[in-house]
Amino acid sequence: MTEILLRGRVLTFHDEPLEGEASTDTYAYIEDGGLLIRNGKIVALDDYSALRAGEGRNVEVVDHHPHLIVPGFIDCHIHYPQMQVIGSYAGALLEWLDKYTFVEEQKFANQGHPERIASAFFDELIRHGTTTAAAYCSVHKASVQAFFTEAHKRNMRMVAGKVMMDRNAPSGLLDTPQSGYDETKALINEWHGKGRQLYVITPRFAPTSTPEQLEMSGALVREFPQLHVQTHLCENMAEIAFVAELFPWSRDYTNVYEHYGLLGPKTLLGHCIHLTDAEIGAIANSKSVAVFCPTSNLFIGSGLFDLGRLKKSNVRNALATDVGGGTSYSMLRTMDEGYKILNIQGQRYHPLRSFYQATLGNARALSLDGVIGSFKPGVEADCVVLDARATSAMRVRMETIETLVEELMLLQTMGDDRSVAEVYVTGKASKSTLT
Ligand code: GUN
Ligand code: ZN
Repeated sequence: MTEILLRGRVLTFHDEPLEGEASTDTYAYIEDGGLLIRNGKIVALDDYSALRAGEGRNVEVVDHHPHLIVPGFIDCHIHYPQMQVIGSYAGALLEWLDKYTFVEEQKFANQGHPERIASAFFDELIRHGTTTAAAYCSVHKASVQAFFTEAHKRNMRMVAGKVMMDRNAPSGLLDTPQSGYDETKALINEWHGKGRQLYVITPRFAPTSTPEQLEMSGALVREFPQLHVQTHLCENMAEIAFVAELFPWSRDYTNVYEHYGLLGPKTLLGHCIHLTDAEIGAIANSKSVAVFCPTSNLFIGSGLFDLGRLKKSNVRNALATDVGGGTSYSMLRTMDEGYKILNIQGQRYHPLRSFYQATLGNARALSLDGVIGSFKPGVEADCVVLDARATSAMRVRMETIETLVEELMLLQTMGDDRSVAEVYVTGKASKSTLT
């Protein structure tokens, strides 16, 4: 039995904080908190003194004061084969895909490349305090093997899948409806539920799949209804026009996914920027999740995610980096850019809400609350320790900060990987072991 007692200023959420809400109904914050972890799971969260008194002398105590301990960050949309795409100079989405992304992803056919990038990718996630991600691999089966092998070795809870794409991309990146189906099925059988690994059925987006491939994707969803589905939707106007050309019978872009049975409570729809009211209705009815990718939407110039409009229609939402369209692995940087996108539209995004979103909110979006994303007893003990004085500029700013909310706002505005003091994956310190 392994047991560890983390001491520090502990913050965790029970529910989504309402705008402007100062009440602690939705979260717990304990100044001198203790987080007792046994065999990789949360056993108790309480005042440190109460937990210390109840435990034998043998428990290992790690004191993280004055830092903040929060559940590990969850990134709901990221492309691991795009580590070497970040920061590519392009116009909009389709040019960015053709010129850089599709070129780079072909390298995953090369011996040793997926393994090297997967290892670097998980180092980067840990460095930035992200303990779970919903990730796109490349079209190559080997890219998924390398990804899950590395995640399993590190015991990190990951949701990932091979992209299926059978048209409108270089031949080196194309599968077929049958091979996409067969390889996906083989990967599900090998990896879904192995340790902490979860498979996500991943048709890349409507422009790169034939009707036959979307049909096969729907067949996989019917065969494996418990699995997640991930794809892209309404990111860019030229993309939307292309979908209308390719699927002339469709009411709109969302209707294509609806038609093939790809919407549902486990479906993650990246971007969702340019939606009609009918599309919002279809997404809400299906309980699919709209994934907000702020740094990507600004970098590729895709547009402004309208969270207020989606929430009015009760659309579920998530927050994500979308590396390599996104420009940072950091969920703190992502919260900051999300704040700016919403602020410019006259929408408020309270720091308690963004920290909720990056933890319990994203766990709920993945239907994994109760498994990750909080410090409820029984939940897997993934935690991140945050230092709001990580840089000289932050130290000076902290001199005038008096409340938790102000500190969270500073962390999301100025924080990045330097603010991540330590990361625990199922109760094991991980950042300090990186080289
Ligand atoms: N749409 C289809 N593929 C991609 C991708 O890799 N990144 C982004 N941002 N949008 C996409
Ligand atoms: Zn994406």
